[in-house]
Amino acid sequence: MCGISGAVGLNNISELLFEGIKNLEYRGYDSCGVALMKNNRILVKKDIGGVEEFYRKHNVIQLKSKIGIAHTRWATHGKVTQENTHPFISSDGNFAVVHNGIISNYRPLRDKLKKEGFNFRSGTDTEVLAHLLEKFYKCSRNVEKAFIKTLSVIEGTFALAFISSYLPEQIFCAKRESPLMLGIGDEIKFVGSDFNAFIDHTKNAVILDDGEYAILSRDAYVVKSILSEEEVTKPITKIEWDSETSKKGGYPHYMLKEIYEQPQTISNALDLEPSGLDGVVDMFSKARNSYFLGVGTTYYVAKYAKYIFSQLSQEFFPSISSDEFQALANVDKHSLVFCASQSGETFDTLSALKHAKSKGARIAAVVNVMGSSIARLVDKVIIQGSGPEICVISTKAALSQMVILTLLAMKLALKKKVITRKTYNQHLQALRELPEIIQGVLNERSGFIHRLASKYSASRNWLYLGRGVYYPIALEAALKMKEVAYVHAEGMPGGFLKHGTLAMIDDDVFSIVFVPPPEDKVLYESTLHSIEEIRARSGFVLGIHFTPQGKNQDLYSEELILPKVPPLVAPLVQLVIGQLFAYFTAISLKRNIDKPRFLAKSVTVA
Ligand code: AGP
Repeated sequence: MCGISGAVGLNNISELLFEGIKNLEYRGYDSCGVALMKNNRILVKKDIGGVEEFYRKHNVIQLKSKIGIAHTRWATHGKVTQENTHPFISSDGNFAVVHNGIISNYRPLRDKLKKEGFNFRSGTDTEVLAHLLEKFYKCSRNVEKAFIKTLSVIEGTFALAFISSYLPEQIFCAKRESPLMLGIGDEIKFVGSDFNAFIDHTKNAVILDDGEYAILSRDAYVVKSILSEEEVTKPITKIEWDSETSKKGGYPHYMLKEIYEQPQTISNALDLEPSGLDGVVDMFSKARNSYFLGVGTTYYVAKYAKYIFSQLSQEFFPSISSDEFQALANVDKHSLVFCASQSGETFDTLSALKHAKSKGARIAAVVNVMGSSIARLVDKVIIQGSGPEICVISTKAALSQMVILTLLAMKLALKKKVITRKTYNQHLQALRELPEIIQGVLNERSGFIHRLASKYSASRNWLYLGRGVYYPIALEAALKMKEVAYVHAEGMPGGFLKHGTLAMIDDDVFSIVFVPPPEDKVLYESTLHSIEEIRARSGFVLGIHFTPQGKNQDLYSEELILPKVPPLVAPLVQLVIGQLFAYFTAISLKRNIDKPRFLAKSVTVA
């Protein structure tokens, strides 16, 4: 949701800024721009389009400077135009600002500033910041004071950074409810929306909290409270991610790379420190009512948790989409709210957790990004260890979260004595086999899925069907198809079909059915009924199943046969097929795989 990158150093930083926003492009990629200090004057270059295109077109690397800020945008206020691209410069040209978030009171501020003679060139909320800085500087003749005054009149959420020709060797930045962190190197300092802005240059980070601002120069940095203006001592966070994992490593797209990393990320999940998981299980066992939360893909992860917990621990836990949480849940000090979030920054989930906390509920999370807002807010966090997920479409993070939630459900079931140690060990063994099973599926089935996806890439309507725990898998696989291929795909429980949607079956509606292994007798047979219902109306069915070749041969229009796997992990294996099917369909349709249109990786606005 917009990426901010800034650097101040001993030598030219133009190239570092380029790398910084390039690494943040997954947060937004409508347009981008940079402000550099050159001979104590601010030079701004900006344009619509991606980072590489922008840098090439404007020859930005050639513009040498030792201090600058850059931005890659995901539009919220104002269309995608060059005028609306960050950075924004004050009327007198002495301040340049980049911002992530929403200044909710920008309209009255803008109207007032216009009356005072400030010249607005964009339709964005951010531009008021540049003019306010100029206005307040004129009163105090002090950049820091002008900054504090600006922060005191703006409402809403922000992570922002600016440079000023009055203090040409410093970067100022602040945050409220949008992530921002500093990178601390020798003779170089960075500011960024996340670690990726500077991970290639330093692994020492300082994570800003809400209500803090910082001033960076080549050799020093200071963090202060916006309210008291007093210095705050901040710990240095060591980034554990390896910068190489953020690179494409020979794969054509991050999405494919991240799908192929899943055997490893599942192993990482299974190797997590048991005491961290046990602490969360303890919270579940003590709570009177618990909820699973997430939004988008992580809502489907939460939905998966609802099924797996009901199945294994024999207790019903509702799942709620984070954005609907306040409207639905009634929580108090006896409640537990557990969320899944890849980024740890998603506004809807963060707001739901804050609401739950304000009501006295205990809150916990599984999160991929250490040091993220959710990771720091909750009472207990499980850092899933999946490494950076760069593609906007979540794959490896979601699958690892499902594995962790399966493990939590097993542990809770054991604690409640609704399963024996023997059953627990059998389930654990099944999970331990999963990385190898998925590796085999990736190695042996990718080519077939590619051909299948190419063959049906012209199909514009898909129904994704699953029953029981396969229903959230169908939903998540359908979301992959929608977001990467821009193809209509509707996830639905198999049993729901005959209550209305069946009327749609014709030559233009294609169904993909996630069939459980035959050992899961009840679910398996009921899923076959759904398939029969479609086939009886001459509908097309692609069956993804575990039944040996030749059995139920005539049931499917097309079939993808998977090797026999333990039933516990079968839905997770099928999700990988769904991911690949969406990926290869998008390839056939020549979509922008890692950066689909209109989307951003972490949605930090309401
Ligand atoms: C995933 O493919 C999506 N792009 C999106 O639905 C995402 O899962 C959602 O925005 C939640 O993000 P989070 O996991 O970072 O909280």
